[in-house]
Amino acid sequence: MDSNKTVLISGGAGYIGSHTAVELINAGYDVVIIDNLSNSDAAAVEGVEKITGRKIPFEIVDTCDPVALKGVFEKYEFETVIHFAAYKAVGESMDKPLMYYQNNLVSFMNIVEMMMQFNRRNILFSSSATVYGEAETLPVTESTPRQPATSPYGNTKQIAEDILRDCCRACAGLHGIALRYFNPIGAHPSALIGELPRGVPNNLVPFVTQTAAGIRECLSVFGDDYDTPDGTCLRDYIDVVDLAKAHVAAVNRMTDDKMKEKYEIFNVGTGNPVSVLELITTFERVNDLKLPYKITPRRPGDVPAVWADTTLANEELGWKAERSLDDTLRSAWKWEKHVRGL
Ligand code: NAD
Ligand code: WQD
Repeated sequence: MDSNKTVLISGGAGYIGSHTAVELINAGYDVVIIDNLSNSDAAAVEGVEKITGRKIPFEIVDTCDPVALKGVFEKYEFETVIHFAAYKAVGESMDKPLMYYQNNLVSFMNIVEMMMQFNRRNILFSSSATVYGEAETLPVTESTPRQPATSPYGNTKQIAEDILRDCCRACAGLHGIALRYFNPIGAHPSALIGELPRGVPNNLVPFVTQTAAGIRECLSVFGDDYDTPDGTCLRDYIDVVDLAKAHVAAVNRMTDDKMKEKYEIFNVGTGNPVSVLELITTFERVNDLKLPYKITPRRPGDVPAVWADTTLANEELGWKAERSLDDTLRSAWKWEKHVRGL
């Protein structure tokens, strides 16, 4: 393994991590996956192996465990880490804030510390559009001011971004990129990997696909009285394979030594706002089915609208979202059918 072409993926058995592993391998990188499987299944790594025809080094490791993590840094040579490992349910973070601060921040700090100890160069961090909160101007650019976090989950993203910025400033050898994902949806076209939410999904698309599969009776549309064209919230839904390719572009930038600053931030979205009702009607049309749904009160904490200005990622990473919403929603339904054996 060439260390400059090898990427450690923490949380690589998860939704975005598994898709990113596939795209990195397609782009000529070797990957090593670590995950504690707290929100995933080892079958995802097998899915990556089936898609790529490659055996993936995979270790069940908790990134909060510094001894186990050190073992990984001793065992493998890699210049780049993509750190996905985190808990991600906003509502759960309100009920169990300490669990979120502990897992998301301890695991991140352990990774950064190991990188500094072992002189590993590049770290890519999974941040989120949640850091923008209810932005004053839309679409949001990377310099749109962050708003005070409205959940412990969102706060862990803001704090981790700041830790990364400070460590890159202080440690000569360390380079960091934070990617702020908007709303990742869809699945690999093979339907061998996809999103596997545990319990009742919080996110829109898994709820839509589970409703279509008959697992949920009816989808609730949270509010149709927002100040938006059809009254439902606007979001920037980014296809997970496109998102995975944005990681490859960011890793290329780091390994090719093309960064302009030691710490950089990029929005990863499509730049197109889509309403909840538009998403539902598109899902129905492309998959030729009817979705039972009803309008219910607003969900507390939802912002009316947020979507990305993607100019920076387009120009600096040479990356652009390519897959259409139609194709993405077809892939989401294909994956749900695969998981349910339909
Ligand atoms: P996911 O839950 O599918 O993947 C995260 C993976 O990390 C899981 O496989 C989980 O088992 C693992 N993990 C969690 N804690 C760990 C620990 N301490 N040690 C080792 N492994 C651990 O989530 P995802 O949707 O793939 O998200 C990946 C990252 O992207 C997360 O950091 C998340 O906050 C961020 N993000 C996700 C979204 C989204 O909507 N999916 C949006 C913005 C940002
Ligand atoms: C999308 C839209 C809901 C479910 C969350 C996190 C964010 C990021 C992405 C991690 C909203 C509506 C939803 C349902 C609905 N994750 N909706 N019925 O809230 O934009 O972002 O995931 O970083 O931090 O907050 O995504 O998929 O939950 O909701 O009407 O059953 O769908 O109101 O307008 P959200 P979402």
